[in-house]
Amino acid sequence: MSQQVRGVVAKGKGLPVSVETIVIPDPGPGEAVVKVQACGVCHTDLHYREGGINDEFPFLLGHEAAGIVESVGAGVTGVAPGDFVVLNWRAVCGTCRSCRKGKPQFCFATFNATQKMTLLDGTPLSPALGIGAFADKTLVAAGQCTPVNPAASPAVAGLLGCGVMAGIGAAMLTGNVQRGDTVAVFGCGGVGNAAIAGAVLAGASTIVAVDLDDRKLAWAKDFGATHTVNASTQDAVEGVRSHTGGFGADVCIEAVGNPKVLEQCFFARDLAGTVVQVGVPTPQMRMPDIAMIDFFGRGGALKPSWYGDCLPSRDFPMLVDLHLQGRLPLDKFVSEIIALDAVEEAFHKMERGEVLRSVVVL
Ligand SMILES: NC(=O)c1ccc[n+]([C@@H]2O[C@H](COP(=O)([O-])OP(=O)(O)OC[C@H]3O[C@@H](n4cnc5c(N)ncnc54)[C@H](O)[C@@H]3O)[C@@H](O)[C@H]2O)c1
Ligand SMILES: [Zn+2]
Ligand SMILES: [Zn+2]
Repeated sequence: MSQQVRGVVAKGKGLPVSVETIVIPDPGPGEAVVKVQACGVCHTDLHYREGGINDEFPFLLGHEAAGIVESVGAGVTGVAPGDFVVLNWRAVCGTCRSCRKGKPQFCFATFNATQKMTLLDGTPLSPALGIGAFADKTLVAAGQCTPVNPAASPAVAGLLGCGVMAGIGAAMLTGNVQRGDTVAVFGCGGVGNAAIAGAVLAGASTIVAVDLDDRKLAWAKDFGATHTVNASTQDAVEGVRSHTGGFGADVCIEAVGNPKVLEQCFFARDLAGTVVQVGVPTPQMRMPDIAMIDFFGRGGALKPSWYGDCLPSRDFPMLVDLHLQGRLPLDKFVSEIIALDAVEEAFHKMERGEVLRSVVVL
């Protein structure tokens, strides 16, 4: 028997989102229905709403979520009803060429639920990142459910499902920050501040936070930034260099999604340093116009980071445990708890820079 629940839907490019009745099918083979307890508002949801990801409207938004597995379909063995899970958008296949090389964190054939959730009139919904969790319940592939310690608060644990994991992983996994490294993080929203938290965990000695907004920079200090640069009043590259002995940082992390900021990261990096691109560009953006001799001559690496190169089954439980031990302040990302009908307003608060994460609690 399918169920009808509430869900936050983006019906068209730039249109305000609305709470609609949506239809959730029973889980088929390999699928699970999850009762959502909490779901954070990520900038990527806004990108979907603005048509910046693709045109497959209507979208069922929300993808940073934790909840309880309600039911599972045939053949599901990894999770069971009652499990407390964080939803992930990297359900690894185990058989693609990357998985077979022992690199499931880059799985090239991740999967989602096969069946569609729909509007009441049968219109199929495109769930954001294959999740769609601004809803009382959602249908996902069972592999998208990662069990974690149920002692964690859903509002906090759910954030690992996207932005916070992407940021921590951008520093620790893609950027491979080591003890004593210098790190610069450009853009200190939820993702950038998570990158700062990741750099702290990895033992970075200097962490320079760059943003246009002093409020964001104050939060960045709270997460462990040792220095801040306000790029609206100061040259970002010079600012980073001035805090890293004049050389630039070993690892520069772009957490905005802006070619100009990518260019700043490129030049704010020390020789043989690494640039990590974790901010999501729009399809129209072009790479910065950088002389090839600079690319060659500076050495190092330019690395895009999808989901912080995380492996949910390995990283979510570990990070939840570090949080419960008081070693990772995930709770600081939760700026406010909101109701399901307040997502549109939360987008505006995000645009105005008033929040790190608004979290819908159901
Ligand atoms: N790669 C991934 O897997 C992944 C996962 C989640 C989110 N993201 C992306 O990461 C980016 C950041 O997400 P968020 O949720 O933290 O967004 P956010 O809006 O909360 O934060 C963006 C921050 O960048 C700052 N900023 C804007 N322009 C800037 C500039 N020119 N220089 C310096 N700072 C600037 C803003 O003031 C803000 O603090 C988005 O593009 C989002 O889509 C990527
Ligand atoms: Zn795979
Ligand atoms: Zn996200």
